[in-house]
Amino acid sequence: MLRVKNISISFTRYTKKRKRQTLSPVSDISLDVQAGEVVALIGASGAGKSLLAHALLGLLPKNATMTGEYRFKGEHIGPKRIKELRGRDIALIPQSISYLNPLIKVRKQVYRSARLSGRCHCTAGERCDKAFARYNLADSVKSMYPFQVSGGMARRVLTATATAGKADLIIADEPTTGLDPKVATQSLKHLRELAEQGKGVLLITHDLENAVRFSDTIVVLYNGTTVEVTQAAALHEGKSILHPYTRALWQALPKNGFTALPPAPPSIGDSRNACNFAPRCHIATEACKKSIPTLRSINGTMVRCFHARS
Ligand SMILES: Nc1ncnc2c1ncn2[C@@H]1O[C@H](COP(=O)(O)OP(=O)(O)O)[C@@H](O)[C@H]1O
Ligand SMILES: [Mg+2]
Repeated sequence: MLRVKNISISFTRYTKKRKRQTLSPVSDISLDVQAGEVVALIGASGAGKSLLAHALLGLLPKNATMTGEYRFKGEHIGPKRIKELRGRDIALIPQSISYLNPLIKVRKQVYRSARLSGRCHCTAGERCDKAFARYNLADSVKSMYPFQVSGGMARRVLTATATAGKADLIIADEPTTGLDPKVATQSLKHLRELAEQGKGVLLITHDLENAVRFSDTIVVLYNGTTVEVTQAAALHEGKSILHPYTRALWQALPKNGFTALPPAPPSIGDSRNACNFAPRCHIATEACKKSIPTLRSINGTMVRCFHARS
């Protein structure tokens, strides 16, 4: 359903001395989301997850440049086409609750997005009310403005906005932040159900445990680059983890000893031609500091590491 190929995002900015500077927070991300599948995009804060989501929806700021390409249902998507698909065929649950319109009551916002995605007046209203019930939003919330609801409620309204419509692909950017564990699980279960009904779900999260529990495929990002693409089942037991960063994420889980990854040392010299995980990697060699590993396949898992072995 969604095929992302070698997407990189860079920003141009000017320093105080008016020198032009290019930042490249996302480089060479590739991933696929099939109909009926939940793909979890996992990475630490600042890894480039939201930027990728915004790039796919044509929402990058003007000073951003994107290279690479992506296809939705086989069709190459450009800046014009994404405006037609956004909200109708591809829905976003944004990370920030500030995406709600402060001047419109919350039910109306959910209703409008259901209408935008092609539902008729009656079905949109019905879906809207079902979504409110599903996310435990009381009837009294419906007529509130966003500033009158709590952060957790606002997040559930955003999820309702994206799921009440007909969109076939849902990009959920940290949809459970600020929700209590029970509601968070309910929300993730619903995304899973949507996938079972044939939709594609790209679940963006930094929570490996839930990613393993609710997704089929896991894409691990480190510093803006895909380092491993693997089956969730492989991560479940901690078996067949091929990249040292994925292993470190797994070992940092409470059930696996809570072992924290050492912090990144300050970067010295030019790291553009090196594996970006090398400064924190316990198996890095000179080769890792001299060139960037490519993403290669080992027994069906894609991994970006010179030292990965089956
Ligand atoms: N408009 C921007 N201009 C420059 N850098 C940006 C901009 N937006 C995001 N970034 C940088 O891109 C990196 C990735 O950001 P983001 O995608 O929001 O991370 P996350 O994985 O936490 O969602 C961060 O280092 C952030 O500072
Ligand atoms: Mg983010």
